[in-house]
Amino acid sequence: MQTIKEQFAADLAAAKTAEAVEQVRIKYLGKKGSITTLAKNTDFRSLSAEEKRSFGSRLNELKNYAEEALAAAKETAANAAPAKKSTGLDLTLPGTGRTLGSLHPISLIQMELESIFQGMGFTVVPSPECELEFYNFDAVNIPSDHPAREMQDTYWLKNQMLMRTHTSANQVRTMQRLGVPLRAIFPGRCFRNEAVDPSHENTFYQCEGLVVDKNISVANLIAVMKTLLSEIFHRDVTVRLRPGFFPFVEPGFELDLRCLLCEGEGCSTCHGTGWIELIPCGLIHPKVLECAGVDPTVYSGFAFGAGLTRLAMMKFGIPDIRLLNAGDVRFNEQFPTYV
Ligand code: PHE
Repeated sequence: MQTIKEQFAADLAAAKTAEAVEQVRIKYLGKKGSITTLAKNTDFRSLSAEEKRSFGSRLNELKNYAEEALAAAKETAANAAPAKKSTGLDLTLPGTGRTLGSLHPISLIQMELESIFQGMGFTVVPSPECELEFYNFDAVNIPSDHPAREMQDTYWLKNQMLMRTHTSANQVRTMQRLGVPLRAIFPGRCFRNEAVDPSHENTFYQCEGLVVDKNISVANLIAVMKTLLSEIFHRDVTVRLRPGFFPFVEPGFELDLRCLLCEGEGCSTCHGTGWIELIPCGLIHPKVLECAGVDPTVYSGFAFGAGLTRLAMMKFGIPDIRLLNAGDVRFNEQFPTYV
């Protein structure tokens, strides 16, 4: 009995789960368990009355001891179980929220422009960033010996193509594709070989606009530009035209916006002039129309090249152009998720 008791204690100590405890119970107290069969296997006839009594009481003691120990072990195993099964889920911890990305300021201004122009009956035309030299330069009246080429140095590709220096590269393509009369804009990315500083980038965005019809004049150009700027800045704006030279317009202008911050008094944003140079534009040069197969004696038109990057910087008060391409999440997160 002593041997059985010791074995039982060792087995039970090793049993850590409810199932293991149950196995120990079966081994000792089950039908064929060693304690149960102890009485069966004993030849009582060979024992005296005194020995029978003593054996019986010691067997009962052993049984009671085993039953109690099993009950205690079962309880311990049951209590330990939930902790062992824990998935590590703690409902009291703060949740991990999902964040939506935000729209880039250039995307925001582009979407806004597209919707304003669509409201005025313009078509939004997709345009390639990688261009033929012909469309970027020659077609817009910049032959290979023209000094304007030097001002618009760019990245030349190995296949005679280049990264376009302005969205004007799409003027002749668009007239060839859509025919005239037409009203179209083509926003997109442009590239120049620039030394980068707070107001110059090698990669920037423009939105070109083109209107060709009969009797198009500078008055139409001014009206469209004023509508555009009033919509963007949500207020009436004052504009002026200054002569500006671009080989593909005649006459060519720089359209200035009266400074919105100082109302023309002069401040640091407008460098004390009261005006902000904003949109180069002009009436389409007859040579460009001819190049696109449009008769300049019948049709006329205007073109403008709004700097999307500059507009975004003005609208959102962005002080350094390099922030736009830097990909700094802290900068990008400040803009809305949708329009
Ligand atoms: N393409 C010119 C530039 O990038 C801007 C422009 C467009 C000027 C259309 C006149 C008309 O500088």
